[in-house]
Amino acid sequence: MQKLIVANWKMNPETAEEAKKLFDSVKNGVKKVKNIEVVICPPFIYLPLLKGLALGAQNVFYKESGAFTGEVSPLMLKNLNVQYVILGHSEARKYLNETNELINKKIKEVLAVGLKPIICIGEKEGEDKNKVLQEQLKECLKSIEKKEFEKIIIAYEPVWAIGTGKNCSIEETMNSVLLIKKIIADLYKKEIAEKIRIIYGGSVNGKNSREYILKGGVSGLLVGGASLDVNEFTQIVKSVD
Ligand code: 13P
Repeated sequence: MQKLIVANWKMNPETAEEAKKLFDSVKNGVKKVKNIEVVICPPFIYLPLLKGLALGAQNVFYKESGAFTGEVSPLMLKNLNVQYVILGHSEARKYLNETNELINKKIKEVLAVGLKPIICIGEKEGEDKNKVLQEQLKECLKSIEKKEFEKIIIAYEPVWAIGTGKNCSIEETMNSVLLIKKIIADLYKKEIAEKIRIIYGGSVNGKNSREYILKGGVSGLLVGGASLDVNEFTQIVKSVD
């Protein structure tokens, strides 16, 4: 299975021109990589402008169309050739008060139109990781059909590691991957847990990226800050190829 390196640009950059420049430079920088799927998740408004690498959105609504002012539907994304959607990011949970119940609705609609959800889970500083991950996985994955799991990606993003420079140790990442697999095996089936793709996010850079793939038990990375720097991001991608 190809490794997945996902760039979450968050609410950056400020202009379409900068977005195109960043995208084209990344595209150029990674054109020789073979074993990696590079996914760029820019703000919604830049999605139609960017072509040549896989695209993801940073959020979505849970209906196809209708009177939902300010929202974007999974179908609209699909029609723009978007393939992935980040859901349940800790910033959406914090600033938009997204709950596991809402995230579950979004996951279902995203799967219904054939997009792949990247479901973010992770504990805050001082929280009981086991309890938080159990709750998030149980509620976010509630009544999702087993056959859908091949499209699902779980992103383990401990909140304390996001944008802080304090990346999660390789050992703790590995333990978290095992924990996530165990929770999914208990909720569903061992085979599903074994196959599900789990990626890591939180202060990933060109120096620490390789270790996560080699020893952290993850099949990819979700990169925030470092994805806005062409050289750093290209280095991350190449380091895991
Ligand atoms: P940083 O890589 O900036 O820590 O952000 C991680 C993240 O939130 C990716 O979704």
